[in-house]
Amino acid sequence: MSTQPVEGCQRKENWGSRIGVVLAVAGSAVGLGNFLRFPGQAVNNGGGAFMIPYILSFLLVGIPIAWCEWTIGRLGGRYGQNNAPGIMFAIWRRSPAKLLGALALLVPVVIYMYYILLEAWCLDYAIHFATGRFDHLFAETTRNASGHADQIKAVVGATRDFFHTNCGLKAHGSLLAGGRMIWVVLFSFLVNFVIIYRGVTKGIESFCKWAMPLLILCAIVILVRVLTLPHISAGLGFMWNPDWARLRDAKVWLAAAGQIFFSLSVGFGLILVYASYLRENDDVVLTSLSASSTNEFCEVILGGMIVVPAAFLFLGAAGAKGGTFDLGFITVPAIMHFMPLGRLFGAMWFGLLFLAAVTSSLSMLQPAIAFLEDGFGLRRRASVAVLGLVTAIGAAFTMYFSKGALALDHTDFWCNLFMIVAATGMVLMFGWVIGAERGVEEMNRGADFRVPRFMPVLLRYVTPAFLVAILVAWTWQTAPSHLERMNPDKQARIAARAVYAGVVKKHYAGRKLAKKEMEQKTAALLGAEKDAAIDAAKLPAWLADATVAGGHGKELSVAEAAARRAAEARSDANIARYVFLGIVAFLILLYVLADIACRTRIGRSIRRVEDEGIAWEAAK
Ligand code: ALA
Repeated sequence: MSTQPVEGCQRKENWGSRIGVVLAVAGSAVGLGNFLRFPGQAVNNGGGAFMIPYILSFLLVGIPIAWCEWTIGRLGGRYGQNNAPGIMFAIWRRSPAKLLGALALLVPVVIYMYYILLEAWCLDYAIHFATGRFDHLFAETTRNASGHADQIKAVVGATRDFFHTNCGLKAHGSLLAGGRMIWVVLFSFLVNFVIIYRGVTKGIESFCKWAMPLLILCAIVILVRVLTLPHISAGLGFMWNPDWARLRDAKVWLAAAGQIFFSLSVGFGLILVYASYLRENDDVVLTSLSASSTNEFCEVILGGMIVVPAAFLFLGAAGAKGGTFDLGFITVPAIMHFMPLGRLFGAMWFGLLFLAAVTSSLSMLQPAIAFLEDGFGLRRRASVAVLGLVTAIGAAFTMYFSKGALALDHTDFWCNLFMIVAATGMVLMFGWVIGAERGVEEMNRGADFRVPRFMPVLLRYVTPAFLVAILVAWTWQTAPSHLERMNPDKQARIAARAVYAGVVKKHYAGRKLAKKEMEQKTAALLGAEKDAAIDAAKLPAWLADATVAGGHGKELSVAEAAARRAAEARSDANIARYVFLGIVAFLILLYVLADIACRTRIGRSIRRVEDEGIAWEAAK
């Protein structure tokens, strides 16, 4: 390990080697986003055509923001700061800098609170494959299936049921009510905190140095297996044949930009912190490009050619389209059932996903650890304990409210928003506070090659404009439906009406009505709006007196069932509100802590470094 004391401030750690920092940053970027999220996004958003907005986002947003984060981070490191508020404050002595720092602390910690669950799911699936439990499950479910189509149905049904039960999607509280998953989550927690406790060089760098090559090797072995399957070209065609018409849809462009953010981990505040452990003349230009390229190789070549083509081959078009969860945790295990040596490849695949997730989640912890150490002088043991407690509370909340991945989904939504806001703030700070010319000069210091000459213009105007457009379009597209999901009264009415609509559908089932006719009948009885309030007095007797299955073999009156569903929907909408309020309260708390730290310990340490003379002057 190489540590280099910086006079006037705490002993500062540095990366041990160039390859170490590249692998650590690439490890932070390469994660579930590459192997599960990317193929789902690409196949659902135009296949090959998706690559046009994707590459444009990579060039206009991904690479420039990554360069900005690297430069700002290394600069903050010169002031002895490894924490986002300190780094921002060292460069810009104003309140918005502290807020930006607080945002860059919030995003990774809150993402960790649900990412750790996905990580644990991967480990659990790997264990299931390695111990042959999936083989056993498939043997049971396919016993009575005759013909290939039946087999596919049985296997996909079994994996779906397994996923929903095992990962708590069926009922709130089911994951914490005992069972194996809680131990798997605890183990994953422990792995992360043991590594982070060992420090940047001995912990993160050493782990990524063997985990990254190993996971890439596993992915290459699986890729070779998939590419040598007979007729795989049909699967590759399904994934990559471009559907150019989709480019007219703004959602496709947003999906591409969102994928670049999530995948490269830009705007998370992670690169910032990792870069602060560089020495002042270490290259950032080539190092950043190397880490981003490693990420793109893992995403497009490895992630893009494994899951969807194989799913198309074994399960057909319907099985190969789906969101991240469906593809990852329902489709992949089903594919492995039909693939020769599926048990081995299944264990290898989920094992590599677990490793990829750990290298990412580690980077989500380091920003808060560094803040507690730099800002409040906590020792590593204490900062690990405090962060462990905070993240355990958040993860327990996410784990408890697991029905339909409710808490996870809402947390992810707000993190995506804050991530784009943080990235926009950082680029604006780079282009307008530091000054694009001056910032690019700093970027080029010690660089193995200089960034293109148009970089200042890009960073001052083009990238911020692109980011603001993404922010506005994303909010426009997603906010209304999301806010609707946070409205308890509306959700209760929607749920109650859905119960009555189910009875209406059953009533007319024998007449084989077209969809439109069915909708008209339902609207005539229950009102046209999906959230219309039901007036029981106006319902025909066959509807008002109907009964519906209430679970455990019990029949409930339709009014009782509707009231029950309405109460559940109301409570889910309230949980969505708590998620939002919790995140906002956490942001306020982080801002207050950042403010206190910048006025005291961080401020003093920055002044000491300045007194010793630093060639770079902050914006005051
Ligand atoms: N960049 C990380 C991933 O892709 C968060 O999973």
